[in-house]
Amino acid sequence: MDIYQAIDERQTIRDFSSRQIPDETIKKILRSAFKAPSNNHLRNWHFLLLNDRERRLEIINKLLKPISRKGAIGIVNRWQLIDDKQRDMYIDAIPKQISMLRDCQCLILPCFRQEADLLKPNNLSDLNGFASIWLAIENLLLAAAAEGIFGVTRIPFEEERAKIKNACQIPAGYEIPCWIALGYPAEGARRASQLEIDLVERIHNDTW
Ligand SMILES: Cc1cc2nc3c(=O)[nH]c(=O)nc-3n(C[C@H](O)[C@H](O)[C@H](O)COP(=O)(O)O)c2cc1C
Repeated sequence: MDIYQAIDERQTIRDFSSRQIPDETIKKILRSAFKAPSNNHLRNWHFLLLNDRERRLEIINKLLKPISRKGAIGIVNRWQLIDDKQRDMYIDAIPKQISMLRDCQCLILPCFRQEADLLKPNNLSDLNGFASIWLAIENLLLAAAAEGIFGVTRIPFEEERAKIKNACQIPAGYEIPCWIALGYPAEGARRASQLEIDLVERIHNDTW
């Protein structure tokens, strides 16, 4: 698939079919992640695949509490969101935070080397590892889209992040930026309606 087509087709999916992803395809997608640029040339990344269903469920059930659609509407109102497309996205997404991790065909924890405290950076360079892993994640999502596989990233809450690292025995000195849930879309899988971006408004020549 052409790169522009993969970019156009990539969209977040939180509803997964039961079709399995071949191991070779997962490897191919992860190989693409390792082609992303990295701050120190070393690509100190690891990808932990959490695909043993029992173990996955045990971990997720300990970490997350379900939120209903009504609860999601309350959250979106508290956040005072007014853009209809943004509200719709959150109202669909919030109640799916558990099911998307539980039902995806490949659940990935990307791990990156982080020497200093991730949440207390002194300068932008302290965040280089964090920035680089997100480039790897985008490569992964685009390569997946080229294979007809889609997914979602979830940012763990602080307590969740610590517990995942502990449960999965992620070594000290490594951090996780997010969960990545991947799979083939379920029939009728929800795709959020996208905002149209006007390039004329967003691109500035010489001065803003
Ligand atoms: C940094 C980042 C954090 C995100 N966090 C979450 C999350 O915690 N849970 C979730 O369901 N989706 C999450 N998403 C997915 C976004 O909701 C989604 O990318 C956005 O609505 C745009 O839609 P699209 O991916 O279909 O283009 C996150 C995406 C990014 C890039």
